Amino acid sequence: MSLALLTGSTGVLGRKLVPYLAKSYKLVLHYRSSEEVFNALLSDPSVKSSLVKAIKWDFSKENLSGFINEVVKVGIPSLVILSASQYDSTPLSRVTEELFDYLVRVNLVAPTYIALKLGTIMEGGLIVFLTDMIAISGHEVYTGIKPSLPYVASRGSFYHIVRYLSKELAPKVRVVGIAVGWVDNPKASKELRDLAIRTIPTKTFVDPGEVYRLIELAKESPSLNGVFLTLSGGI
Ligand SMILES: NC(=O)c1ccc[n+]([C@@H]2O[C@H](COP(=O)([O-])OP(=O)(O)OC[C@H]3O[C@@H](n4cnc5c(N)ncnc54)[C@H](OP(=O)(O)O)[C@@H]3O)[C@@H](O)[C@H]2O)c1
Repeated sequence: MSLALLTGSTGVLGRKLVPYLAKSYKLVLHYRSSEEVFNALLSDPSVKSSLVKAIKWDFSKENLSGFINEVVKVGIPSLVILSASQYDSTPLSRVTEELFDYLVRVNLVAPTYIALKLGTIMEGGLIVFLTDMIAISGHEVYTGIKPSLPYVASRGSFYHIVRYLSKELAPKVRVVGIAVGWVDNPKASKELRDLAIRTIPTKTFVDPGEVYRLIELAKESPSLNGVFLTLSGGI
């Protein structure tokens, strides 16, 4: 079995990808602080037996080279899924310089630097930037939520980053983006969930299993490189 790295394994979407990945890969799972969620993931025997290493790391505080060193201590992954991120909806009047620094560091610098450094030493395989639709369609794509300006800034260049890295890391490593629409979040308000469903043309949330299957399809498609795929029901 080859090795896969998933950052943000405790996220609403991230945690749902883990059991799928555990069926086909040995896993290095990253998270920042959600101990309970992480421990719950380990209650699945196939996740527990696939886990090679858990890395608890805050990309805003700890250096990224140290994180990469922790990954490569156990091997070089052939699949890297960059899913860790911080959503933010701070209104314009309360935006600070610190907020810009934080969001750009966590959402842009961290995944891009990890992709660059791991991509340079990978012997082959795929790097996936997992984002929301804001990364490719802008700040008005989700009815009912308004991302902050620093958040949009921290996501807006992924289209170009994926294209750039895909050319530089080829032919050994391919790079794709997957932008995901609305994933059902049981903790969101009923009003927001109902509104979301009304505005999704296909009237269904994106199922995390679909995201996993698209990652696998990308993995198995040697010509798929440098593009953003979307799973959004058409928003
Ligand atoms: N959930 C959705 O509805 C949805 C929809 C479309 C697209 N997406 C995209 O899919 C990706 C994953 O989403 P998600 O729902 O899993 O996100 P999420 O629920 O917001 O979780 C974020 C993840 O990133 C980690 N993280 C946050 N700040 C961090 C930091 N400073 N350093 C290191 N790690 C940090 C969190 O770790 P801890 O929890 O351990 O602190 C968590 O694992 C994101 O790119 C998101 O934009 C999500």
